[in-house]
Amino acid sequence: MQIMTAVRRPAAGIATLLLAAALAVPDGPARAGDVAKPQIVGGEKAAPGEFPWQVALLDGSVGNTFDAQFCGGALISERWVATAAHCVFDGRVEPPSAVDILVGTISLKSGGVRIDVDTIVVHPRYDERTSENDIALLRLVEPVDVETLPPVTLGEETALTAAGTLATAIGWGDTLVKGERFPVDLRKVNVPIVTNRVCNGPRSYAGEVKTKMLCAGLAAGGKDSCQGDSGGPLVVPDGDGGFALAGITSWGARCAAPNKYGVYTRVARFATWIEKVVAAPRRAPAAGVSTAVRATAP
Ligand code: ARG
Repeated sequence: MQIMTAVRRPAAGIATLLLAAALAVPDGPARAGDVAKPQIVGGEKAAPGEFPWQVALLDGSVGNTFDAQFCGGALISERWVATAAHCVFDGRVEPPSAVDILVGTISLKSGGVRIDVDTIVVHPRYDERTSENDIALLRLVEPVDVETLPPVTLGEETALTAAGTLATAIGWGDTLVKGERFPVDLRKVNVPIVTNRVCNGPRSYAGEVKTKMLCAGLAAGGKDSCQGDSGGPLVVPDGDGGFALAGITSWGARCAAPNKYGVYTRVARFATWIEKVVAAPRRAPAAGVSTAVRATAP
């Protein structure tokens, strides 16, 4: 299983730059026969306001928002962000002061508001080895007034996440299949949901995809989420003109490779856990919960 921690390299070496230039394909309308255009991978730029609940996870110790971005997330309520456990857990839960949330912009270089996190709740059964239960919830120090993204519930799972459903993965992750190029503006890509059975096929993940994971992508490859998109949402139409949170970007073998679908945390299976965490009074933190009181600015 390849799980790479997304790190936005501050300075690309000459070799990387040359490689990126060689692989760069200008944006343009998709044409029949196009394969693997190097975006989110294979996607396109999001419009301002198109995904108002999308957030970037920033390294709290890095001032520059572009350099600080390391994962994505989605606002599921005015105060809580759903993301991947592997974004905020590395042998232990990161202290909340290590993470900030950028809300309200598609650009990592301008606009938006940077907000502190006061509580990080990693799923108590997150397994770093198998990537099972790769989900965490981050509580903002103050509520934000933006449209939120409802998680798919258990009752809606069959109808909203059936195989063939065209889902959308969103993020600021790597746009190149080979090498690295991180975009300034948010990107999106449409990928059909595939069954766990297909995803566990011999040329795909041969049993590594567990029940509470969900796969999306093309057998031919070319469209996928990638490093840096982790924690961000995989959304599906909610049947009512809006979107619902079906998956959280978790892992994959390389990006956009044939038969190597993107693997997402199957959000519907965590609906009860999410409700419980969001509803719990936040005074005496439970086990697995990391809180830190941040000094207010003078
Ligand atoms: N683990 C990656 C991250 O931290 C996301 C990988 C998604 N990969 C994929 N092929 N869909 O950003």
